[in-house]
Amino acid sequence: MRIGTTLTNYIIDNQRHIPGATGEFTGLLNDIAVACKKIADVVNKGGLVNVLGSADTENVQGEQQKKLDVISNQIVIDALQHNGTIAALASEEMDSVYHLPDGKPRGKYLLLCDPLDGSSNIDVNVSVGTIFSILKAPEGVDNPGEREFLKPGTEQVAAGYCLYGPSTMLVLTTGNGVTMFTLDRDIGEFLLTRKNVTIDADTREFAINVSNQRFWEAPVQRYIAECQQGREGPLGKDFNMRWVASMVAEVHRILTRGGIFMYPMDSKIQASGKQGKLRLMYEANPMASIIEQAGGAASTGRQRILEVQPEEIHQRVPVILGSRNEVKRVAAYHA
Ligand code: AHG
Ligand code: MN
Ligand code: MN
Repeated sequence: MRIGTTLTNYIIDNQRHIPGATGEFTGLLNDIAVACKKIADVVNKGGLVNVLGSADTENVQGEQQKKLDVISNQIVIDALQHNGTIAALASEEMDSVYHLPDGKPRGKYLLLCDPLDGSSNIDVNVSVGTIFSILKAPEGVDNPGEREFLKPGTEQVAAGYCLYGPSTMLVLTTGNGVTMFTLDRDIGEFLLTRKNVTIDADTREFAINVSNQRFWEAPVQRYIAECQQGREGPLGKDFNMRWVASMVAEVHRILTRGGIFMYPMDSKIQASGKQGKLRLMYEANPMASIIEQAGGAASTGRQRILEVQPEEIHQRVPVILGSRNEVKRVAAYHA
């Protein structure tokens, strides 16, 4: 019986085509895969191992942390700090850049991550995920700080997420299309289950948190109203709606059957002095990269997400992503 293509097989195969590759990138993705397997295990055990509920702490963004937010963040640190593949790590759940302990070898990559996305869904046993983004560390800097991380999304060398759903799936881009792997728990390996993923340019499915409708800007009001008018409206087709409240699950659905996902700018966000709800470097950039690599589009409404120049690591942005023609339409309404 064949094993199939493991994630490691796939990365090593890809690396062969990159002149000068040293194996460090393969090691990095392996470490990420180990972290994801461990998080999958804890998420899966849930109430059996007392990991549900609140941690009674707040993160730097002023959000209530769940126990699993804190545990997942620690798992990522543990899995990444030993093998000399990263130079530093930044996470949604840490106030500032995590520096490797003295004596640990420094690698040539920077890792950014949302250790547990959709954490409001943990206690209700709905899909959550881990999102990661990889940048090159600048040469000659021993302990990279925040400034070294502030690169636009176009500079990412790889990005991906792991979805903890009915099955655990790791979805990856290294700038050459999108590939999906499914965790085979019996052998503890991610196996390739789908490659060259593409998103239809058109869709009949939108995802937005409609409870914020009264705060939306005019272009979003117009677009959603047109979706709701269905076949009788200017778009000439009936739409379906979904809102999981786990971006990982929404992006995975869009990669599977198309759609448009929006967490746009609104007057409530603006009044709180923020530039959006979702985080540019931990959520928007890696997801934008995956969506673009699958032929979709990702915009703030006013700009391509991947071209936004970050000013701080925890920066937020409006996000509109998915099927290309619909994202273009919403961006055109903003113009
Ligand atoms: P996180 O759990 O990492 O804070 O992210 C949650 C994000 C995203 O995954 C989701 O799309 C959105 O927040 C949901 O926001 P609402 O609760 O406002 O719908
Ligand atoms: Mn998140
Ligand atoms: Mn999170």
